[in-house]
Amino acid sequence: MVNKINIIYISLNGNTKYFVSCLSDYIKENMDVMVESLNIKDLKGETFPVDEPFVSFLPTYLNGGNGIHTGDKEVLTTRLGDFIASNDNFKLCYGIIGSGNRNFNNQFCLSAKQYVERFSFPLIDVFELRGTQTDVKRIANLIIKHHEEFLKKL
Ligand SMILES: Cc1cc2nc3c(=O)[nH]c(=O)nc-3n(C[C@H](O)[C@H](O)[C@H](O)COP(=O)(O)O)c2cc1C
Repeated sequence: MVNKINIIYISLNGNTKYFVSCLSDYIKENMDVMVESLNIKDLKGETFPVDEPFVSFLPTYLNGGNGIHTGDKEVLTTRLGDFIASNDNFKLCYGIIGSGNRNFNNQFCLSAKQYVERFSFPLIDVFELRGTQTDVKRIANLIIKHHEEFLKKL
């Protein structure tokens, strides 16, 4: 039984922060589950061990290119990966949600897909920019499902 969701994310320009805020309100009001969130942008580069399971959110910022032959290098958001890698925190991460802009074609949500390769947790879902209320509901349900499955394996 899930009674608390921890969200560790990074938001540089506010879109992901807005989505996490809408999602948190939805989960608290409709699922009777507490939500705590941390924007890695608010830290000063410090890391610390996480002691509860968490889900992560990562918007995409790449260094140009087309995502096939060039432009697969994550820029600006690497502090989230550093935090997840530090102190073996990735072991408590039960999945990631990517976001981006579909105008970037092959680069859409590429960073989240790279974290899946790097840390071996699942890509739970993706959404565009600030998302929609449909995204909020769908992703809320998926997070609860992934959290429950993760708890069973602990
Ligand atoms: C400089 C820059 C580069 C971006 N590169 C990508 C990209 O490669 N792929 C993608 O899907 N979205 C890309 N985006 C879109 C962002 O991922 C999207 O706007 C996201 O919602 C930003 O989240 P934030 O406001 O929480 O920081 C880029 C945006 C900017 C400003």
